[in-house]
Amino acid sequence: MRHLTLTLIATVLVAVTIPQWVFADEAPAIPPDDLVYCTVCHGVQMRGNQNVFAPRLSGMAGWYVELQLNAFKNGWRGVHEKDLAGMEMRPMAAALSDAQIATAAQFVSATRSPLPEQTLDGDASAGKKNYSSCAVCHGANGEGNVALHAPALRGLNDWYLLTQLRNYRDGIRGSDPADNYGVQMRATVQILEDDQAMQDVVRYITTLHSD
Ligand code: HEC
Ligand code: HEC
Repeated sequence: MRHLTLTLIATVLVAVTIPQWVFADEAPAIPPDDLVYCTVCHGVQMRGNQNVFAPRLSGMAGWYVELQLNAFKNGWRGVHEKDLAGMEMRPMAAALSDAQIATAAQFVSATRSPLPEQTLDGDASAGKKNYSSCAVCHGANGEGNVALHAPALRGLNDWYLLTQLRNYRDGIRGSDPADNYGVQMRATVQILEDDQAMQDVVRYITTLHSD
């Protein structure tokens, strides 16, 4: 009887403390020992932490993780004096070998967490009009397109999306001529005529989260 009671208590404890990202059929991804520190900023299961500007990366496609770790390592991202968040990340990527970058990409793409909460306002219907130009590369549902090297946009934090659009606009990202894909995106961002247009399109992208 005592044993049964303890088992019951243990079961209840597990049930109330179990984090939301643990789904019945999906075990949480365990970071390899040499990559545990990624979660110090990006959070458990890479769920993101706005306090240190580290975006949610859970489930991000491995090819894109690899592309961006190399972009930081190559000095295409995280070198501009106004890019405080990028400068936080750059030394983390610079320390990784090619093999570690491949392992990191695998780990990140295996992580799962709840979709991010909305933190910004904007006019989603105005954003939707502009998004039709984005959809050509990023997909109608923001699912991304590996053939075009365009990442998924759904599942990213709204505050992170807005920072990146501003970064491309201001030449903080995508201005190194060797950064082919960043250069492409920097050219495209000019479609969004002002900051309000950026907030509107970001607001629309967050409506794709629940599709
Ligand atoms: C010191 C805090 C910190 C640590 C540790 C850290 N990151 Fe980051 N990471 C950031 C920040 C901040 C950004 C956002 C940079 C920006 O806004 O441009 C970022 C961005 C990224 C991006 C780009 C995401 C995108 O959508 O383009 C990837 C990929 C990434 N981190 C992976 C990792 C991996 C893998 C590790 C472990 C090897 C790691 N990070 C460790 C802070 C950190
Ligand atoms: C010609 C194809 C193309 C079009 C059109 C396009 N993008 Fe992109 N986008 C890309 C590529 C390629 C990247 C990866 C760039 C890099 O490596 O820095 C990217 C990156 C991004 C990122 C960075 C994501 C991250 O995780 O850091 C955001 C945000 C983004 N695009 C938003 C948009 C929006 C909003 C539009 C429409 C106004 C748009 N894109 C139109 C190709 C495109």
